[in-house]
Amino acid sequence: METTPTTRQTADTFTAFFRDRGHRLMPSASLVRPPGDPVLFTAAGMHPLTPYLEGRPHPLGRRLADVQRCLRTTDLEEVGDPTHLTVFEMLGSWSLGDYGSRQSLRWGYELLVDGFGIGPERLHATVFGGDGQTGPDDESLRAWQELGVPVETTREDNWWSNGPTGPCGPDSEIFVWTGDGPPLGAPSGDDRWVEVWNHVMMRYRRLDDQGLQPLSRPSVDTGMGLERLAMVLQGRRSVFDGDLFEPWLRLLPPLWGIEGTELRIVADHLRSAAVVIADGVTPGANGHGYVLRRLVRRVLTLLWRHGRDRDPNTPATPATSRTPATPATLADLPAELIAATLDHFGLPYPVARVREVLLAEERRFAGMLSRGRGVLARPRFSGVLDAGDYAYLHDTHGLPRELIDILRAE
Ligand code: SER
Repeated sequence: METTPTTRQTADTFTAFFRDRGHRLMPSASLVRPPGDPVLFTAAGMHPLTPYLEGRPHPLGRRLADVQRCLRTTDLEEVGDPTHLTVFEMLGSWSLGDYGSRQSLRWGYELLVDGFGIGPERLHATVFGGDGQTGPDDESLRAWQELGVPVETTREDNWWSNGPTGPCGPDSEIFVWTGDGPPLGAPSGDDRWVEVWNHVMMRYRRLDDQGLQPLSRPSVDTGMGLERLAMVLQGRRSVFDGDLFEPWLRLLPPLWGIEGTELRIVADHLRSAAVVIADGVTPGANGHGYVLRRLVRRVLTLLWRHGRDRDPNTPATPATSRTPATPATLADLPAELIAATLDHFGLPYPVARVREVLLAEERRFAGMLSRGRGVLARPRFSGVLDAGDYAYLHDTHGLPRELIDILRAE
């Protein structure tokens, strides 16, 4: 009987494929970008490679591949839907001034069809069709036509940039049909076409004046979300339904009585927090620490809804003596979930330290909630709050607006 590949096997198939084609494998870089970097967190596999895409020679050569952990805060509100995660892994391959888009797309096709067994009739591509500044990406268009894959051309959706300035270029996205019946229509009109792989032809640098300067050494940068690919290969409807989240979705509901979207958010955020902590971040008022703080506090807010928060002076309750009325605490988060996450990401970091950081933030948040309740009980804050009230509460009592709104909604 044919078995579906696990997430880890899927990543291994990808890296072996590119290694066999002369690519050197790089270890994943940290989620935390170094000081001076324009982004706080690694949000795409190419972020650590930016200087090399701009022309600096890479010590490992011109063909590279990796499995890079990434964090996207832009997607935070979408977490809980079937395809968005805060921390995820991106499979990446690069040609730094070596082969061009035709070769990259042909290998893309070969890996998806022969390596992963996706029927060629389930593939659809999109290609940059040109705009006022740049012509259409004819090389990529021809590559797909040679392979017999249907192509849709777009403008904005097929242009990739790293930010307002820096390396950029036309891209070609590969979609896989996930509907029950035979493939219908095109990706822009039917979301049963799921995007799995993006091949970016890094041909330009966007300048401060928005002009485009051709790069002296064009490159190809590809990125494919591992969890989404595994979802497609395992024939699932959601990234939460596969092997990675199975222990979370099994162990958390009996512990905390959560389900559905809330369960997915709690699992995603705690898993992400564990990885961020293991990359050296502690909760704080800004930067990396603030992102971590938001993740943990969002979890606690969901767990403590409906007045379920606990007094910071009450010791944590062992899970075995829990009753439905006992408030939830991260002290009960099973160590095996943290250990499996750190192991999956290859992070040699103590599980106990992750728990300490989570619990310290829980205590801090619980303390803020009880102090905040006292302040907000004053008659001055009984009506509608204006900007001056929010500023006072923030500046004098350290209460951020989102927390004030949570407390007032209780
Ligand atoms: N940079 C592209 C992306 O993030 C491909 O790696 O999608």
